[in-house]
Amino acid sequence: MEVAWSPRYGTGIEIIDDQHRELFRIVDRLRRMVSGGMDRSLVEDAIVDLVACSEQHFATEEAYMAKMAYPDLEAHITEHLAMLGSLQDLLAKFRESEQAMALVVPTFMEGWLRHHISDGDFGFVSFLKSRNLV
Ligand SMILES: [Fe+2]
Ligand SMILES: [Fe+2]
Repeated sequence: MEVAWSPRYGTGIEIIDDQHRELFRIVDRLRRMVSGGMDRSLVEDAIVDLVACSEQHFATEEAYMAKMAYPDLEAHITEHLAMLGSLQDLLAKFRESEQAMALVVPTFMEGWLRHHISDGDFGFVSFLKSRNLV
């Protein structure tokens, strides 16, 4: 089933929503590649792309949160580091595994994204709303 961004993930912050949409697009591209038996090196490229886009997205969020003096910034940075760590683990395992394709489980990736947005970023949105900043 398609892994897609939906309005319920909307934060109301345009640049963050755009980046979340892009992350969903990459995860969905990976899902299609894996289910279509795509060449392993292309799948690896897509995972590398996901890591790079995630790094860029997290840096954007952290800069924005710092600008807004978000009190939970440190905890959010720790969460971002853990998420990047799990993606980098996946990439490392993918590179060394015989059953590489089976490791790219779309449900894991979708859960990873949903968790990041719903449990993490929405805390920031609540903070902005409480200060009438959004
Ligand atoms: Fe985010
Ligand atoms: Fe985040």
